[in-house]
Amino acid sequence: MMSETMPTIAKSEILVVDDTQTSLQLLTEILNEAGYQVRPASNGALALRSIAAKLPDLILLDVKMPNMDGYEVCRRLKADEQYKDIPVIFISALNETHSKVKGFSVGGIDFITKPFEALEVLARVKTHLALQQMHRQLTKKNIQLQLEIIERKKAEAERLELETRLHQSQKIEAMGTLASGIAHDFNNLLVPILALTGLVKKNLPPASPQLKHLEMIAESAKKAKNLVNQILIVSRKAPSKMHPLHSTPIVEEVLELLCTSIPTNITFQTEIAPNLPSIQADPAQFHQVVMNLCVNAIDAMPEGGILSVSLKSMPHYQFINLQQKKTQGAFVCLTVEDTGCGMKKEILEKIFDPFFTTKERGTDKGSGLGLAMVSGIMEQHDGHIEVESQVGVGTTFRAYFPIFLASEEENQLKETQTFQNGQDLLLVQDEVSVLETEEKPETSKNRFNRRF
Ligand SMILES: Nc1ncnc2c1ncn2[C@@H]1O[C@H](COP(=O)(O)OP(=O)(O)OP(=O)(O)O)[C@@H](O)[C@H]1O
Ligand SMILES: [Mg+2]
Repeated sequence: MMSETMPTIAKSEILVVDDTQTSLQLLTEILNEAGYQVRPASNGALALRSIAAKLPDLILLDVKMPNMDGYEVCRRLKADEQYKDIPVIFISALNETHSKVKGFSVGGIDFITKPFEALEVLARVKTHLALQQMHRQLTKKNIQLQLEIIERKKAEAERLELETRLHQSQKIEAMGTLASGIAHDFNNLLVPILALTGLVKKNLPPASPQLKHLEMIAESAKKAKNLVNQILIVSRKAPSKMHPLHSTPIVEEVLELLCTSIPTNITFQTEIAPNLPSIQADPAQFHQVVMNLCVNAIDAMPEGGILSVSLKSMPHYQFINLQQKKTQGAFVCLTVEDTGCGMKKEILEKIFDPFFTTKERGTDKGSGLGLAMVSGIMEQHDGHIEVESQVGVGTTFRAYFPIFLASEEENQLKETQTFQNGQDLLLVQDEVSVLETEEKPETSKNRFNRRF
C-alpha cells in the first residue's frame, strides 16, 4: 500500500502551454507515455481559460509566445489566490541566466531548456509533483492542527468558566449556611420592631412629632429585613414558590413601573413573543430578575440610550450546568439589552459575586447584591444566565427559565387544591414577640423599587 506521504503522481493532470506545435506534441507524448493526463494549450490566453475551467496539478509553460508570453501568464497566476499554488515549470530555448532568474522572480519553480531530454522533463515533473503533493498535505495538516488548537482553547475556556462558577457556588454555599442561621434570628428580632412601631404609631395623635421618628425606625427596619431577604436569596436559602407562570404580564408590569421614573433620554423597546408557554417560576423572584436587570441597564446609560427587553420561546436550548452536565430543554428567554457603558473583562468576571459593585457604596445605589440574587434565583429555578458585554457599546443579559410542563401543572393544581381545602394555617414560632405581632406578610413586589 502506498503511504500517505507517497504522492500518487501518475494520475496527475499537466497543462502544457507552447505555441510551437512540434514542441507541444512532443511534450504531450512524453508525458502521456509516463501515465500523466495532459491538457495542451497553444497560447497564454487559452492556457488561462483552461486553468479557470479546471485546475491542473502542474504547468509546463513556454516562455516565448506571441501576445502574452510565459512570464506574463505566470505573473497573473501567482497574483490570484486560487491559482498561486499551482507549480509552474518554464520551458525555453533562452538559456541565459537573466531569463532563468526572471522566470523564478515571477513565481516559476523550475526551468527546462530546449532542446529538452525526455528523461530530464519527466524527472523534474515527478519531483515537483511530489513536492506539490507534500505541500498540500502539510497545508491540510496545518489547518487540522489550527482547528484542534481552537477547539482545545474553547474547551479550556469552558472548563475554566465552569471551575469559576463552581468555586463561586461553593463560596456562596458556605456564606449561605452562615447567613441563613443569622437571618432566622435577625428576622425574628425585626418582626416586633416593625409591628410594634406600627402599633405605637396608631396610638399617637396625627400631629405628634414622634410619628416622624417612628417612621424612620420602621423604614430602617424594613431595609434591614430587605437586606436579610436578599442575602437569603443570594445564598439560595430563600424559600421559593414555583408556579406555572405567565412571564409577559410581569415583564410588562416592571416596564410600566420603570416608565414612570426613568430619565427621558432612555428609550424602551420591547419585543414579546405571542403565546409564550408558561414558565416554572416564583412570581416574586421572576419579578426581581426582570427588575434587577433593567435597573442595571438603566444605570449603565447615564447619558441616555436604548433599553431593549424581549421574551421569546427557546424550545431546544442547551447549556452546561455547574455539575458539568449538558442540560437541554424548552426555555423562555428573557433578554435585557442596553446601549450603555459596557464592562471590561475584569469587571465581567466579578459581577455575580455578592457585594461586588462599581456604584457608590453605602447609599441606596449599589449594595452589589442585585446580580448575585439574579444568579441565585436562576440556579434555584434550574435556569441559566448569560452575559455579553462590550465597553462603550453595551451589555446583553439573557436569562433562561424552564417552561412548565403539563404533567407538573397537574401536580401543581392538586397541591393548590389540597391547600385551599385545608382548614386553618398553623403558625409555629419559637419567639414569643414574633407570635404576638405576626401580621400578614409583606409582598416582595416592591422590594426592588427602592430607587424609584
Ligand atoms: N447592564 C450593565 N452594564 C454595565 N455594567 C453592569 C451592568 N449590569 C451590572 N453591571 C456591573 O455589575 C455590578 C454588579 O451589579 P449588581 O446588580 O450585582 O450590583 P449593583 O447594581 O452595583 O448594586 P445593587 O443591584 O445591589 O443595587 C454593577 O455595579 C456594575 O458595575
Ligand atoms: Mg444592580
